[in-house]
Amino acid sequence: MDSIKKYHQQLELAIKEIKYGSNPKELYEPIDYIMSLGGKRMRPILVLMSCDLFDGDTAKAIHPALAIEIFHNFTLVHDDIMDNAPLRRNQETVHVKWNNNIAILSGDAMMVKAYQEICKADATELPELLAIFNDTALKVCEGQQMDMNYETQLKVSIPQYLKMIELKTAVLLAGALKIGALVGGAREEDAQYLYDFGKHIGIAFQLQDDILDVYANADKFGKQKGGDIIANKKTFLLLKAMEMAESNRYIKEELQQWIAAPEFNASEKVEAVTNIYNFLNVKELARNEMQKQYELAMNALKKIPANEEKKNALIAFSDSLMVREV
Ligand code: IPE
Ligand code: IPE
Ligand code: MG
Ligand code: MG
Ligand code: MG
Repeated sequence: MDSIKKYHQQLELAIKEIKYGSNPKELYEPIDYIMSLGGKRMRPILVLMSCDLFDGDTAKAIHPALAIEIFHNFTLVHDDIMDNAPLRRNQETVHVKWNNNIAILSGDAMMVKAYQEICKADATELPELLAIFNDTALKVCEGQQMDMNYETQLKVSIPQYLKMIELKTAVLLAGALKIGALVGGAREEDAQYLYDFGKHIGIAFQLQDDILDVYANADKFGKQKGGDIIANKKTFLLLKAMEMAESNRYIKEELQQWIAAPEFNASEKVEAVTNIYNFLNVKELARNEMQKQYELAMNALKKIPANEEKKNALIAFSDSLMVREV
């Protein structure tokens, strides 16, 4: 069995065994709910893979891996409130199934649970792991606030967008890899190369997420189709469309109208904006940027003097993210 599958199974078992608490049930049931809805578990898998890359004992990396996965799920619960999202992993989001207050507080408790898990690491390693974890968590908040600011900010540049997704999404993949590397006994320099690898793979991953938001088979993807269009998220697709529409007055006006519309029929807006994306072929441009980021990631990975077979597992993992449909 390949290492990715093996880690996935190992993590599912470990996640099932976590006891969050039971009383009051309104606090803990949503945590069990979101954590047991599945998901790809890619961040904790990355923790274990990077620990193994340096021939570390992956049993030691399990708790930091769980911490990262709980933290990730916490960000999803709050993100779904912020994005007004009805669906996650093909099920109702926590704030829809319960309510906003419950989603906020359960999310807060998850953050604490994440810290409890990371605190189970070796005392000698803990300060360094916590420093990375804290830095990562704060950057995610910064990225999420930029994402919200950009909903109503009309001019957002591509570099601003790339920085925003680096913060809200990519640093968590990068941080997961760096944490795994340190637990695995990597040299600081190599842990940093792996961080850079994760950053670029993470940016490519969010670009694909933006594409899937519009183009995925919604049943597979498990999220509301066109949620980003409805919310005026400044995705790569929208920013490129706005840029290209500068030379086409008709499209420019139509796009501006949809962005400015205070009230609209959601599926009409999604369809109209998707047609503009199709006409301008912006998906292709997003794919090109993904490819660029993929190559930057590979360059960083090349610099690490580790077992080629183990590096190939990370490359295979990256390849699967580039073509993912969920
Ligand atoms: C969703 O992350 C949030 C983004 C950063 C796009 P995933 O696509 O990893 O979500 P799950 O955990 O597999 O459901
Ligand atoms: C989410 O980005 C990033 C975080 C949760 C920090 P998105 O808002 O694009 O993620 P999805 O599409 O809801 O999963
Ligand atoms: Mg969202
Ligand atoms: Mg969001
Ligand atoms: Mg998204």
